[in-house]
Amino acid sequence: MDNKRKFDKVINLAKARGFIFPSSEIYGGLNSIYDYGPLGVELKNNIKKVWWNFMVSHRNIIGLDSSILMHPKIWEASGHIKGFNDLLVDCKKCKSRWRVDDLEKNICPECGGELTKRRNFNLMFKTSMGQVEKENNIIYLRPETAQGIYVNFLNVKESMRMKLPFGIAQIGKAFRNEITPGNSIFRMREFEQMEMQYFVKENESKKVFNKWKELRKQWYIDLGVNEKNINFNNHNKKDLAHYAKEAIDIEYNFGFSKKNPFKELEGIHNRGDFDLKQHQKYSKQKLTVKELNNKEYLPNVIETSIGVDRALLMFLIDSYEEIDGGRSVTKKSIKDKEIVLKLHPKLAPIKIAILPLSKKEKLINKAKEIYDILVKDYRIQYDETGSIGKRYRRQDEIGTPHCLTVDFDSLKDKKVTIRDRDSMKQERIGIASLKNYFSNKFI
Ligand code: GAP
Repeated sequence: MDNKRKFDKVINLAKARGFIFPSSEIYGGLNSIYDYGPLGVELKNNIKKVWWNFMVSHRNIIGLDSSILMHPKIWEASGHIKGFNDLLVDCKKCKSRWRVDDLEKNICPECGGELTKRRNFNLMFKTSMGQVEKENNIIYLRPETAQGIYVNFLNVKESMRMKLPFGIAQIGKAFRNEITPGNSIFRMREFEQMEMQYFVKENESKKVFNKWKELRKQWYIDLGVNEKNINFNNHNKKDLAHYAKEAIDIEYNFGFSKKNPFKELEGIHNRGDFDLKQHQKYSKQKLTVKELNNKEYLPNVIETSIGVDRALLMFLIDSYEEIDGGRSVTKKSIKDKEIVLKLHPKLAPIKIAILPLSKKEKLINKAKEIYDILVKDYRIQYDETGSIGKRYRRQDEIGTPHCLTVDFDSLKDKKVTIRDRDSMKQERIGIASLKNYFSNKFI
């Protein structure tokens, strides 16, 4: 199946199975704003947890949670008020609006109409602070989390007695008034970022940039992403963001554009000393560090920046498999298609499904007893409705790695059957050893 078809199918599945809902749907929705359903929020939390643990398990990376609203001068200093623009054009005929970046020809992709001249459009969301809306009350919703890290650089360094090189990791919401949002949660106006800023001496920045490029790519592979769907895209000097000296995108084969299916998933940037220098200038506060020989300098910054939502979409697409005729060998299933979401067990929203084989009270009581034992440690679904085959399929579709069936033998031998989502292998495990059995399954 090509990735474009897969993309459409994943989006449908995500809505039907409670991963992603359009925001404010009963009011007709709100353009490119989305909500996460019960399974979506679990998956999103798991992605954030895995990223956070990966970052802060490095000896010299520590965390921060800075605010969304910040002093407006920060955005002057960072260059966002002046320079955080996209070039846009409008179609004179059908009035649709386009980012110049997305155009392949000089006519409207929708109707072939003539386009207006290019104009700059600032992506910052404005609001006002306090009760009265006045020019001097304007503040902005942050378009990236990074600036909260730069303005706290010295607070973190001094309070935690950090020495260079060290990194600060942060997860949080960002807002951009995108011109052409779309493709579900790929480009949204409200989204979440996971960013890490690594502070180094200038002469080490190239080496550190290359190291993080590889570490970040490996992160995806370790989480089961197919390596052939991942690309590096080096930015040409002319395409660099206003703050960057060097930049590379990790791209994924999202598939929604046939001509150019690989799209940005994560950016790795060498920001030099641009941000600290600007904040030093605008705040008039020294942001330098001192070496043993008392030499003072501004650190350089290597940044890794990934959108949580984009990562979630990528994990859904990459793990989606459709098997014609199904994997079960019963005649009945031959015409069917079977969907399996082969999410890494660490990411799977539901870890274990508990399925009593019949609705007989004795079995249900046993199944609920097991549920109570495991629910404190794992996200669990209990399901007693429909045939066992249908229940397995429901769990395969949402990526549950283990289905645990309780049958009549379980009452006698005190064992249950555990089915593995990917191999479909089944094994009998004693109820008393379940906690132990699962303890190393999700690491
Ligand atoms: N601090 C650097 C920075 O923000 P960026 O390349 O503009 O760099 C980093 O954004 C990542 O944030 C992107 O690779 C993408 O995953 C995510 N992202 C950016 N804009 C987004 C949007 N409108 N919707 C969803 N994710 C977005």
